[in-house]
Amino acid sequence: MFTMNTKIITLNEKELKEEQFTEAAAILQAGGLVAFPTETVYGLGGDGLREDAARKIYAAKGRPSDNPLIIHIADTKRLAVLTKEVPEAAKKLAEAFWPGPLTMIFEKATVVPKGTTGGLDTVAIRMPEHAIARKLIQVSGVDIAAPSANASGRPSPTLAKHVIEDLDGKIDMIIDGGAVGIGLESTIVDMTGEIPTILRPGFITKEMLQAVVGEVKIDPAILEKPSADLKPKAPGMKYKHYAPKADLHIYEGDLQKVVSKIKELTKKNLEAGKRVGIIATEETRHLYLEGNIKVIGSRAAEETIAHSMFAVLREFDEEEMDIIYSESFTSDKLGAAIMNRMLKASGYQIENLGD
Ligand code: TXA
Ligand code: MG
Repeated sequence: MFTMNTKIITLNEKELKEEQFTEAAAILQAGGLVAFPTETVYGLGGDGLREDAARKIYAAKGRPSDNPLIIHIADTKRLAVLTKEVPEAAKKLAEAFWPGPLTMIFEKATVVPKGTTGGLDTVAIRMPEHAIARKLIQVSGVDIAAPSANASGRPSPTLAKHVIEDLDGKIDMIIDGGAVGIGLESTIVDMTGEIPTILRPGFITKEMLQAVVGEVKIDPAILEKPSADLKPKAPGMKYKHYAPKADLHIYEGDLQKVVSKIKELTKKNLEAGKRVGIIATEETRHLYLEGNIKVIGSRAAEETIAHSMFAVLREFDEEEMDIIYSESFTSDKLGAAIMNRMLKASGYQIENLGD
């Protein structure tokens, strides 16, 4: 079924010309698919107002079609077209954080097909900041539905190389714009209820949202393992996402205890002939002696951890580890988004070793 020739073009976000987007725009206008960089992760774009384009997106990713897509816009005027109504609080958040890594959920207008929204009466909308994403939306004139450009179940792509690994031969074009900035998907906030509710944590934290609109809630289901009575409101959050091929275990608590535990388990498993990966930080790297040790970033700068998390998980996949041990990271501010992804990747295999 997938025997497409995927065209790959390279663009520099600092030197963009309109004509560089002519071909990509034509593909989108014809209902085809183009992967492109955003400031969060790479997206797989298609026309958000066409059911046939949405179907192609689900097929290329191997994604369940009840998992709705985010529509990307470049002008707030599109909100009036795509939604039934825009609450005051949403206007304030758009003013404060758009363009940027924030997605808001609204009641959808009838022009938005249910094929795009996974059958829901609501629609997710985001205005990205990345210059290539913005230009692609503007030149094509298309409201671009774009999930992360990974195969369903794999870590989100933060480099064009990751998109090529997962989608080459399955889509029309990939725009290589280099490494993304943030490395974690956007914060999703449901604006359809009384109080704005975070459905997926991201770079825009609860504190940042509260500073603009007052009270903000967090969907309780995203803090723990989903179960029958605790179902996340964002359908995609219930899947075991970002799953590395190896068995991932996270240890939290006193950092010295964590390091000792990981060293002990690494030794045991290496002796048993297993391939062992370790997710360390700049601060702890020198404490480990054996195993395949990767530095995910610095504890002193959480954004460095966010930036390389998905790439590190993909590298371990390539290097075919049997088991991966990871330290845990603080869970306030940006850390909430990082730990949310790590917990999901591990299938919630986390152990607290005490203080
Ligand atoms: O940063 C991002 O948001 C990236 C870039 C490409 O913009 N996109 C992204 O899309 O992460 P995706 O499809 O991988 O994740 C979208 C999430 C899913 O968990 C989905 O269930 C949720 O958004 N979602 C979309 N529409 C929704 C709706 N109407 N109600 C609740 N959740 C929704
Ligand atoms: Mg995704």
